Amino acid sequence: MVDLGNIPHTIWWEDGTVRMVDQSRLPLVGDLLICNTYEGVCTAISGMAVRGAPALGVAAALGIALWSETEGAEIEDLRYYLDEIDRVADEIAATRPTAVNLMWGAERMKRFARDNADVGLDALRPLVLEEALRIRAEDEERNRALGAHGAALLEPGSRVLTHCNAGSLATAYFGTALGVIFSAHAEGRIARVWVDETRPVLQGARLTAWELRMAGVPLTLITDNMAASVMRRGEVDAVIVGADRIAANGDVANKIGTYGLAVLCKEHDVPFYVAAPSSTVDLTLASGDDIVIEERDEREVTGVTVSGVIEPRTSIETQALDALTEAGPYSLGMTKGHQMQVARKGGAYQFDAWMRVAPPGIDVYNPAFDVTPAEYVTAIITERGVVRPDYTVSLAEACCGTGALHELG
Ligand code: MRU
Repeated sequence: MVDLGNIPHTIWWEDGTVRMVDQSRLPLVGDLLICNTYEGVCTAISGMAVRGAPALGVAAALGIALWSETEGAEIEDLRYYLDEIDRVADEIAATRPTAVNLMWGAERMKRFARDNADVGLDALRPLVLEEALRIRAEDEERNRALGAHGAALLEPGSRVLTHCNAGSLATAYFGTALGVIFSAHAEGRIARVWVDETRPVLQGARLTAWELRMAGVPLTLITDNMAASVMRRGEVDAVIVGADRIAANGDVANKIGTYGLAVLCKEHDVPFYVAAPSSTVDLTLASGDDIVIEERDEREVTGVTVSGVIEPRTSIETQALDALTEAGPYSLGMTKGHQMQVARKGGAYQFDAWMRVAPPGIDVYNPAFDVTPAEYVTAIITERGVVRPDYTVSLAEACCGTGALHELG
């Protein structure tokens, strides 16, 4: 039995705004973020309030629709409106470089607006919003379809390892790698999920562990460097991950650490599956060598970020917190570059902290993704079916072909 009822929707349209669950602090703080401008959506993407490749595609689409319904509603000239859609779409697409779904969502909106421009501006604006909502709805449909295809690959009682969060939160709803796991669990095929914590941003520990627990799927959290040992003990039957971009030859960009898992799978004869919708496949890139890998702030590596709620135990603590936060969020003075801010939130107090663990002034390298060469990928699970090598042929057929695709290659 899988109960997804407790997993919130990731991003949606409500009352003329784009709303999302702020994933940067989940699960200890679960804020609702309301974006009134497309710039707000851009900030949410670069700050990882919304993250995960398919969710980024939806965010791009909704961000453009938000612009159309706000600033775009003031425009009277159709040509200018279309040029502005292009500008806004390009700005949103530039917020993160690796997940192609972001560019895919932005491009689809640009094309849609141009292709339907002959209805006139007044009729076009609602259509643009409808297209963004369609992109969101289609994403969930795709995930449910790929989940069913992927589940069939797992034997009853499988022990599966996953990395990062390719869950419901990384998509409009349901998830890709976790979509497969949810579907498989409903069919009695999952005995346990090994969850890599996924340094440095901890999407595994924070988001995947949370989603699986919410859904009642048995899980065990491990640090990334434990995966090899767990596999060597014969306790992993399959690895399933998501993807941020898949090149035409089947090379897969995904969260940093994925490549290492794929190599381990080969050594231990464990299948390595990638679950991703067709919107993650980038047939314009011949190989993964051409995928731009995002590098992020060194502070993700040199320290840990923690947020939480403070529950005062005495009236003295309450008075102290009230005094500190009276004029707004209060930053405590700390040594070693540690940072802690305390703020009022509803009737409670919240802290956001960054604690340095590495010495200051050292050289740091922080790529957010790596590329797994196609030769390590057992199969790619798409909404159109399971795709196997030779990926140069099978991916092109899956993504450009028509009709249902189940087992190719
Ligand atoms: O940096 P993030 O959290 O956006 O990275 C997410 C991943 O790497 C996911 O595995 C990938 O986007 C697939 S999500 C279905």
